Amino acid sequence: MRTNYCGLIDTQYLNRTVTLCGWVHRRRDHGGVIFIDMRDREGLVQIVCDPDNISAFQIAEKIRNEFVLKITGLVRHRPQGTINTNLTSGEIEVLTKSIEILNTSLTPPFMMDDEHLSETVRLEHRYLDLRRPQMQKNLRLRYKVTMEIRKFLDQKGFIDVETPVLTKSTPEGARDYLVSSRINAGQFFALPQSPQLFKQLLMVSGFDRYYQITKCFRDEDLRADRQPEFTQIDIETSFLKASEIMTLMEEMICNLFNSKSQIQIQAPFPRMPFSEAMLKYGSDKPDLRVPLILTELTDAMTEVEFKVFREAAQKSGGRVAALCIPQGNKLSRKEIDDYTNFVGIYGAKGLAYIKINSLKEGLKGLQSPILKFLSEKIIKTILERTSAKDGDLIFFGADKLKIVNESLGALRVKIGQDLGLIEHGWKPLWVVDFPMFDRDEGENKWQALHHPFTSPADGHEDLLETEPSKALSKAFDMILNGSEIGGGSIRIHRRDIQLKVFKALNIKTHEAQEKFGFLLEALQYGAPPHGGIAFGLDRIITLMADEESIRDVIAFPKTQRAQCLLTQAPSSVDEKQLKELHIRIK
Ligand code: AMO
Ligand code: AMP
Repeated sequence: MRTNYCGLIDTQYLNRTVTLCGWVHRRRDHGGVIFIDMRDREGLVQIVCDPDNISAFQIAEKIRNEFVLKITGLVRHRPQGTINTNLTSGEIEVLTKSIEILNTSLTPPFMMDDEHLSETVRLEHRYLDLRRPQMQKNLRLRYKVTMEIRKFLDQKGFIDVETPVLTKSTPEGARDYLVSSRINAGQFFALPQSPQLFKQLLMVSGFDRYYQITKCFRDEDLRADRQPEFTQIDIETSFLKASEIMTLMEEMICNLFNSKSQIQIQAPFPRMPFSEAMLKYGSDKPDLRVPLILTELTDAMTEVEFKVFREAAQKSGGRVAALCIPQGNKLSRKEIDDYTNFVGIYGAKGLAYIKINSLKEGLKGLQSPILKFLSEKIIKTILERTSAKDGDLIFFGADKLKIVNESLGALRVKIGQDLGLIEHGWKPLWVVDFPMFDRDEGENKWQALHHPFTSPADGHEDLLETEPSKALSKAFDMILNGSEIGGGSIRIHRRDIQLKVFKALNIKTHEAQEKFGFLLEALQYGAPPHGGIAFGLDRIITLMADEESIRDVIAFPKTQRAQCLLTQAPSSVDEKQLKELHIRIK
């Protein structure tokens, strides 16, 4: 049907006759001559229809945007002054010999080169949105990346094994999507939140190195970097230590970014304990491109007059911390109020500050609503610890640990963006030495910080019973520019330890047996020491494509309300179908 792709015709085809198929990107009528920008997946080419060619010209007059055409014509130089250096085909044009309309199109709801489209309109007509060059580019990048990963893992001896989608709950901290069973009345499958338990079982089976690029399903609150169904690069190995797995995965990620992105990543990645990440960045996924660091002040504030600081410092589980902003004293009253509102989103009740006008003038050189509540000694400590200089501004957070960390952690990144402090390039790191558990405040019990199959750190097994809050795990997360792109761990391969962890999580023996009996049994048949990791493919592509939202690298994503605007899923179903499934809607 065609000889070439539109977007690839260049001067090497001069004076040749080509047949091209594609979509009408734009049609321009230049008094007598009609120009068509014809588009296919490789790009645009300029088609010229001369009125001398009466039959072709008559067809060209009927053409509208997004019609599908087949055109045969002669490749020739564009006239001087009309060359477009942005296009591969920018030096040539195709003079039409014949045109055939392969299909017509309604007027599309948006132009393919419109840059300010509402996401709703894009998602409702996703098949048109995907015609846009940016989306074509993103999905092709995604394909190339998965090819590169498969090549790398294959070379390292990993084999791809498929695991079931209709399965039993595999907890990763979200709610399950359930699928009802027609044949087994009243019973349900869960869609996997990850293939975690199956990949562990494959290690028990002796596969040694497994991978899978696979869909995972999580019914959780959605954000710009979360989808209810998303893709993991899921990996598991036997007989490797955590540091060996991390080194191998660094090699994979460097390999990937260095072949597919302009800016290089260097291994080894820094490894930062969770406690340090929280202390300095208020986050377990610190964006190291922002050169601001939190300053700890809790110990210094236990006796101060300012009640807000004193109470937070005295309370167990409280924190007082500061964030010093270089050259921040030019922030206006209004900007400080806006930041105060911003930290309010994270539960902060205020955002005290000190402006440093002139250090040599002592107290008189400082400006702050809270100065009157702080002694000279405390102010000296604050200035020393933050290393504040003339022209800086120091923000304070005082509250429960979680609120201070989340609010100042987010403020750090926001101010980094607002003041243009973000450094260029990729800033990867590993966060390690995570606690095994954190507190589920709502339910007042311990929950697994990663998943309940994560091994405790060496020597921390006894803490599971005595002091669960102090037990560390062998988990590791890979962070890139503030995004958690992967998480993994060494797993528990001994039944007794697994039972201890279930106990710490308040999972009763009969419940453990009912939910994870198959795992507990498998661990008794020569389970090897094993560990692995899963990367969020969508997040990796989002970073590589420099997109804001994960939805821009997924062909058919869901909205923040977990709906597909294209197909209108989820939707109600026939009474008959429900009956077969033994379901009645209340
Ligand atoms: P985890 O839950 O950390 O670990 O998931 C691994 C990675 O998957 C990505 N990710 C998501 N991406 C998009 N939308 C979501 N809703 C979403 N949730 C997670 C993140 C994350 O780092 N079984 C373990 C891995 C292991 O221990 O081997 C797991 O699933 O980039
Ligand atoms: P107030 O005495 O409530 O007027 O607060 C004095 C200053 O402390 C104001 O700048 C508030 O924004 C700030 N502030 C109040 N609560 C907190 C808090 N929990 N953490 C940090 N700053 C606070």
